[in-house]
Amino acid sequence: MKDMKKAFITGITGQDGSFLVEFLLKKGYEVHGMIRRASTFNTSRIDHIFQDPHSINVRVFLHYGDLTDSGNITKLINQIKPDEVYHLGAQSHVRVSFDMPEYTADTDGLGTLRILEAIKNSGLPIKFYMASSSEMFGSSPPPQNEKTPFDPRSPYAVAKVFSYYATRFYREAYGIFACNGILFNHESERRGETFVTRKITRSIARIKAGLDKKLYLGNLKAKRDWGYAPEFVEAMYKILQHSEPDDFVIATGQMHSVEDFLQESFAYAGLGDWKKYVEIDPRYFRPAEVEVLQGDFSKAKEKLGWEPKTKFKDLVKIMVDADIKNLNNKQ
Ligand code: NAP
Ligand code: GDD
Repeated sequence: MKDMKKAFITGITGQDGSFLVEFLLKKGYEVHGMIRRASTFNTSRIDHIFQDPHSINVRVFLHYGDLTDSGNITKLINQIKPDEVYHLGAQSHVRVSFDMPEYTADTDGLGTLRILEAIKNSGLPIKFYMASSSEMFGSSPPPQNEKTPFDPRSPYAVAKVFSYYATRFYREAYGIFACNGILFNHESERRGETFVTRKITRSIARIKAGLDKKLYLGNLKAKRDWGYAPEFVEAMYKILQHSEPDDFVIATGQMHSVEDFLQESFAYAGLGDWKKYVEIDPRYFRPAEVEVLQGDFSKAKEKLGWEPKTKFKDLVKIMVDADIKNLNNKQ
């Protein structure tokens, strides 16, 4: 339909992509997403919104692609002609980036450049959102805001810093409406199972069901600013609707340690003292760690009218309840 806005999402099958496609459909968008070919289905987070391309009034379209394939990216941008690109695709696991630094740089760094170049060469007035990360701040002391210097501590963060500056550069040099959302950690019932919050809540469900006895973790002292993902994808949308292209920190301003998360979640699940279940496995330590992240989101509050709603304790409850329910449904 002529007046319907078109969005193109890379990383549509991920946690954030799945919430963003739901959000944009409610706003009346036609949504296109890049998916990777895999030998097993990788669309479980978006299966509930899948629309048969043969039916009428379809508003979700999936396209095979990969961030390492510039020909494919250029073709998709020229075919889809989106109004807005939300670039969320990435090898997003910090620990894994130490094992696969080159692949991470290719996907998370050069992948962004490939999209920006395709947008520039298309000549179309496409707005671009870059999923930048609080991980870029590394060991810069908290609270971190848009003016805090970067000090990347992982191959993942180094690649994200590259993408952050590429986004700014294409804005300044070519006048593209290109923006960075510097998002602090955000979690949900759809969070990947190997990120620490979901690893904990999934393990709680398994321990309660008698399937596991122990949970093996790494650094419990690290502190993060954990928010709720559906609220964070709304910020991505607001960033692209702002009157001018700009960069924004999106966070809750609250900081908790991994230990705090353990304490809160095990107690809420009725398992008592988490220390009975948790053991340290050095394999989960990182060659370099980001110890403390706490975001100052005042600019987003003032300019976008965005602020987080879900508090830490409620986030823990949402995730524990969902994992217990998931497991019960499977059994
Ligand atoms: P996620 O759940 O890991 O999703 C990543 C997405 O990227 C998936 O759809 C994945 O596809 C896709 N992808 C990975 N490699 C790709 C490649 N080579 N080509 C094409 N697609 C590829 O991540 P998320 O939590 O939703 O995060 C979304 C974005 O925000 C990421 O860029 C992440 O780095 C960034 N970020 C996340 C947070 C956070 O706390 N969640 C905070 C700051 C920034 P498959 O499903 O096929 O694997
Ligand atoms: N994953 C994981 N597994 N982390 C553990 C574990 C474990 O067994 N034990 C302790 N941790 C600690 C990590 O060392 C880190 O300090 C903290 O828990 C959070 O780790 P993750 O949940 O893996 O997230 P992250 O902060 O490294 O990265 C996430 O947030 C970034 C934004 O700051 C990812 O979503 C990134 O993509 C995102 O950019």
